[in-house]
Amino acid sequence: MASTSVYSSFELLFISSLLFFSQYFILSEAQGLPPIVKGLSWTFFDSSCSKLESIVRKRLEKVFKDDIGQAAGLLRLHFHDCFVQGCDGSVLLDGSAGGPSEKTAIPNLTLRKESFKIIEDLRERVHKECGKIVSCSDIAALAARDAVVLTGGPNYVVPLGRRDGLNFATENATLNNLVAPTANTTTLLNRLSTKGFDATDVVALSGAHTIGISHCTSFTERLYPNQDSTMDKTFANNLKGSCPKADSNNTVNLDIRSPNIFDNKYYVDLMNRQGLFTSDQDLFTDQRTRNIVTSFAKDQKVFFDNFVNAMIKMGQLNVLTGGQGEIRAKCDRRNNDKKVDIATVVEELEETFSALF
Ligand code: HEM
Repeated sequence: MASTSVYSSFELLFISSLLFFSQYFILSEAQGLPPIVKGLSWTFFDSSCSKLESIVRKRLEKVFKDDIGQAAGLLRLHFHDCFVQGCDGSVLLDGSAGGPSEKTAIPNLTLRKESFKIIEDLRERVHKECGKIVSCSDIAALAARDAVVLTGGPNYVVPLGRRDGLNFATENATLNNLVAPTANTTTLLNRLSTKGFDATDVVALSGAHTIGISHCTSFTERLYPNQDSTMDKTFANNLKGSCPKADSNNTVNLDIRSPNIFDNKYYVDLMNRQGLFTSDQDLFTDQRTRNIVTSFAKDQKVFFDNFVNAMIKMGQLNVLTGGQGEIRAKCDRRNNDKKVDIATVVEELEETFSALF
């Protein structure tokens, strides 16, 4: 007779399924993280490419040591990818002869050229280690997370399993999905609510402007011909020094207090009327978002928790999963568009061999 302490295979199966599903529950629910969409997983590459995250992290540590500004570029790249047609790597695609691409639409022209090269370099390193199984959109999501962490921001888990899109958006679709810096809070709240973001998410996501730079042309409408009355006078004078004309070709820091550190000083800037864009400063002027700005300025942890929440949501916008899309062999082109050049063939052979042995 079987002892009562011995589990039947049915019981074992039941217990192991409970354990299997509980790890997802533990990761997302217990940490208070947003739910993940079907097809993505917190452990997607744990067995098939266990070194993925360390390859990306180690490489970016070196890249940022040489130029910390690249962190901001990568964070913005992921945002521009996700808001237009979903996080499908479409912003990385070069245009075809058929017309201008998402990449060359006005808001994307100020993405850093270096950011595209960094993503492609990461892809090459990852594919060399694991074969062609990780998408460019997953790599962009991990790079954005590491940009936040390596500049002093919060660490967070990134659900993975995105596939790369087969086409890019039109210029119009790109413009319609990325809000202009001249937008006020009403426009911001309305436009972002269509993507599932509430007022707290909007204020938290805007906090990404705690790192990075802007070109003069993105905000000089607040200086010329008339100075925006909501702008601190000394701040405005300094900006005029950096941007003597409305179309000056210079750049300024987004967060005057700590431009290269991911912290809550951006909200302190807003409270001192030193926000760079109308879309930033109006978050403090508008009664619907003012208290959220103040609470983030007072308590960095509150900002970090809400930022992580909003980033995980953003990183899952309209993702392609399962059999949708493809895993690109080069981030700037669809697999079908691949030019058959000798360098590509050699690289693919190398990747196949290193993944096998
Ligand atoms: C919600 C409305 C937003 C508007 C209107 C906006 C607008 C802008 C503009 C105009 C620039 C400067 C571009 C230039 O002239 O070079 C910029 C930079 C930047 N944005 Fe945003 N943005 C928004 C949201 C976000 C979000 C959600 C993120 C990321 C989660 C983000 C991350 C960044 C970063 C890191 C930079 C600096 C980039 C660099 O240094 O290369 N922005 N943004």
